[in-house]
Amino acid sequence: MDSVISADRLTKKYGELTAVDAISFSINEGECFGFLGPNGAGKTTTVRMIHCVSPISEGSVSVFGQAAGINNRAIKKITGVIPQEITLDNDLTVYENLMVFARFFDIPRSEAKERVAGLLAFVELEHKRNSRIGQLSTGMKRRILIARALLNNPRLIIADEPTTGLDPQARHLIWQRLRSLKKQGVTLILTTQYMEEAEQLCDRIVVMYQGRILKEGVPQRLVQDEIGREVVEIRASEEGDAGLLATLSPLYTGHERAGDTLYLYCTDSHALMERMLSLNLPNVLHRPATLEDVFLKLTGRSLIE
Ligand SMILES: Nc1ncnc2c1ncn2[C@@H]1O[C@H](COP(=O)(O)OP(=O)(O)OP(=O)(O)O)[C@@H](O)[C@H]1O
Ligand SMILES: [Mg+2]
Repeated sequence: MDSVISADRLTKKYGELTAVDAISFSINEGECFGFLGPNGAGKTTTVRMIHCVSPISEGSVSVFGQAAGINNRAIKKITGVIPQEITLDNDLTVYENLMVFARFFDIPRSEAKERVAGLLAFVELEHKRNSRIGQLSTGMKRRILIARALLNNPRLIIADEPTTGLDPQARHLIWQRLRSLKKQGVTLILTTQYMEEAEQLCDRIVVMYQGRILKEGVPQRLVQDEIGREVVEIRASEEGDAGLLATLSPLYTGHERAGDTLYLYCTDSHALMERMLSLNLPNVLHRPATLEDVFLKLTGRSLIE
């Protein structure tokens, strides 16, 4: 596959703080590539360098053959950005917001009208065309941001935490729209703190923490390689860990402790659960392993606090 975005030791410094610390990655045409990480990991800073609104401190990133920091206009022309913050004008209507934005791209008015109509249909908000932004729900505003990002028919879409603060239903609607864009062949960069979002949408992800990339891979494969198939959670105080781990060995393949919970990794929880039942252990839960477990294993902390 052809790589269309490629970063080489990309770095961002704010004074003493290194927000993005020499990260390298490459993204193939038509794939959905995710940056998964907690608050402050450096996700927004990274994508802002990709779409040329934040100067690069060191290293480089090229986007469809153009170098960020040099050919910024060319990159902006082919990129659609769904920002983390809702940057819509509350006093204007949905239609007016989109038309104003179309002017930035010098789209002729008649063509802009047509595109806006098509995009409002795409995000299923035709009926809100004449509503002021202030009258929309957060989920609707996020869908308008998607429509806005598509006005210039981008080849690359950057979605920076597109579903933060949304309920499950609104979230699923956004996921559907993003999937549909992917089907049309658009290359997608997604940042998220939600492991479920990364698992649902991304072909490949990098796990990002404190400005660095800790791991890269296909979500399911990362989970399988780092954790295994299943996780058993035991809510118990830490003092008992050594004894418990000795008793339950070798029925688990790895373990991690975070707060009041001991996590045991295993390929088949059946035998482990049987043993725990016989020990009369209360507060035990078993479930499939997830990217959240991968993150905990890599950093010793959870993705969302
Ligand atoms: N303009 C700025 N000036 C100084 N520091 C900044 C600036 N923007 C971001 N930072 C710092 O850079 C680090 C990375 O921030 P960034 O916004 O990229 O994280 P993030 O992964 O997007 O987090 P979140 O999930 O909360 O959006 C943080 O420590 C943040 O405080
Ligand atoms: Mg961010």
